[in-house]
Amino acid sequence: MCGIIGRIGEGNSVSYVIEGLKRLEYRGYDSAGIAVVSGEEIIQCKAQGNISYLEEKIDNIKPIGNLCIGHTRWATHGKPNEKNAHPHSSYDGMFTIVHNGIIENSSKLFNDIIGNRDVLKSQTDTEVIAHLLSRYYSGKPLDTIAKVTKILEGSFALGIICKDFPDTLFCTAKASPLVVARGKKGCFIASDSGVLSGFADRYLSVSDGEIAAIRSGEITVFDSCLNILEKKSYLIDSNYTDDGKQGYEHYMMLEIKQQGKAVKDTLSSIIENNDIFFEKVKLTEEYIRNGLKSIVFIACGSAYHAGMVGKNVVESLCGINSSAEIASEFRYSKALVDSSTLAVFISQSGETADTLAALRVAKEKGAKTLSIVNVKESAIAKESQSVIYTLAGREVSVATTKANSAQLAVIYALAIYIAEKRGVISSGKASDYKKELLSLPKKIDETVSNTEESAKEMAKLLYNQQDIYFIGRQNSYAVSLEASLKMKEISYIHSEAYAAGELKHGTISLIEQGTVVIAIAHNSEVLQKTLSNIAEVKARGAKTILITDNKKIEKNGEIDEIIRVDTTLKEFSPSLLVLPMQLVSYYTAKLRGCDIDKPKNLAKSVTVE
Ligand code: F6R
Repeated sequence: MCGIIGRIGEGNSVSYVIEGLKRLEYRGYDSAGIAVVSGEEIIQCKAQGNISYLEEKIDNIKPIGNLCIGHTRWATHGKPNEKNAHPHSSYDGMFTIVHNGIIENSSKLFNDIIGNRDVLKSQTDTEVIAHLLSRYYSGKPLDTIAKVTKILEGSFALGIICKDFPDTLFCTAKASPLVVARGKKGCFIASDSGVLSGFADRYLSVSDGEIAAIRSGEITVFDSCLNILEKKSYLIDSNYTDDGKQGYEHYMMLEIKQQGKAVKDTLSSIIENNDIFFEKVKLTEEYIRNGLKSIVFIACGSAYHAGMVGKNVVESLCGINSSAEIASEFRYSKALVDSSTLAVFISQSGETADTLAALRVAKEKGAKTLSIVNVKESAIAKESQSVIYTLAGREVSVATTKANSAQLAVIYALAIYIAEKRGVISSGKASDYKKELLSLPKKIDETVSNTEESAKEMAKLLYNQQDIYFIGRQNSYAVSLEASLKMKEISYIHSEAYAAGELKHGTISLIEQGTVVIAIAHNSEVLQKTLSNIAEVKARGAKTILITDNKKIEKNGEIDEIIRVDTTLKEFSPSLLVLPMQLVSYYTAKLRGCDIDKPKNLAKSVTVE
């Protein structure tokens, strides 16, 4: 993970780099640091923790320089302390670098080529790169960078300062996102084009093995043999801005409240006059009708939970084989996918390393690839054959809410679209589904506002628990997994989710007097089954809570508490059932004094495997 940024241009580059680092904090916030070329000197400033600690330090030393590189870290090699914070310099100070990625052979390279452990100031793989650059330095930085990067195994996006060339910013990448841009405010390098919004209008991507040299407002990109390349430029998404917390204490609450709008905006972009149209989906009617045999949803974390819903909805509506796969498992599996498989990749960031790798595997095997992505022009969007964008706007809180809701909406629309094209559902039935789908934004808004008070009360009951168990069946199992993930990631309470029928196959032994079990149960043929499972845990002393859209079930000897959501079709029920659980997790984390928007050890964009 980690985020890198660099600027070279008129005036002081430090303020641009700090602003860029704040925008990049979603990639990690274990530590941050900058290096500035200031006359003959390269000044470094680093701090453990988020950018605000770095800013305080910078305020004291006030460094000035035209060339500055910066880094925000999500620790991979070495503890998240100041010593391991980037930038790192070589033993002779010739090279100072920032790095996003992981060098898998760093120890071997260090032992074989450098050897002297006395030069090491940190425990990072990055520092080894800096030493290697100095060891191979020939007076020609481009040659040196080309030589060193060829022996690095793993992934990297590097911003490089060479002391002999104080007017040039170098960068290079392999399997890590890196862009360069020239704009009104100078020249930049960054891990993500969106963070350059307002600094420049267009950007170039630095692809595997390429090296860029940036000086005097001029960017030159070379291939690994140092031939100059003509690169295509892309528009920087100027809408991808952060409008602040808008009066809320945390981005997460703002984003929970924005879910109706996120779903509405997303649906408006794909449904017009009761017709679903996927402009950028390159699937012919013939393929959908006769070529398509299975749909696999591939993603990580919450996006994977959306994929689980996708599997259920596709099977229910389209009558096609479907599965949901965790991207990090899929990429190394022997999955039998071919041109009859539609592989759907779900990702808010569009940069998740495992999802991207799984996409490449599926493509290589000949599957049709379609991605559902929130960030425009992200790697997953660019590399998949078709893309459907969720229009959730920028999601800042690490724990996803509105992007996940928008993903679900696209999945429902996709299932209706395929079912209709295959003639599996009549146009009348399809029309009913679309009507209900279009009613979701309002129901989402109402459910959020109607369940907020109960969620607050529920949090008082949960915040001092050691363990919380979630159970559910079918779509409600997917919601249980998502609810459990939300709970543990922001409140740090241990939590697990099980398919309700599985509990008695082992886990029920953990249920004791007072253990909290939250059952999620939507109106369906399996509702009664989940109620029986509630009775089973109640009999063993559990405190039981039911989240349901059923209007008739009341609290009784088996159900201690109920939160009720609005009703919709069983296929779409996850969109409503998940909402009170986002609120409960939020208020539980708040009572525990957790850093809700930036939970420990996490990052918004997971660009390492
Ligand atoms: C949990 C959460 C994560 C992400 C996962 C995938 O709240 O946000 O589990 O869903 O890291 O990220 P994307 O969607 O960016 O691929």
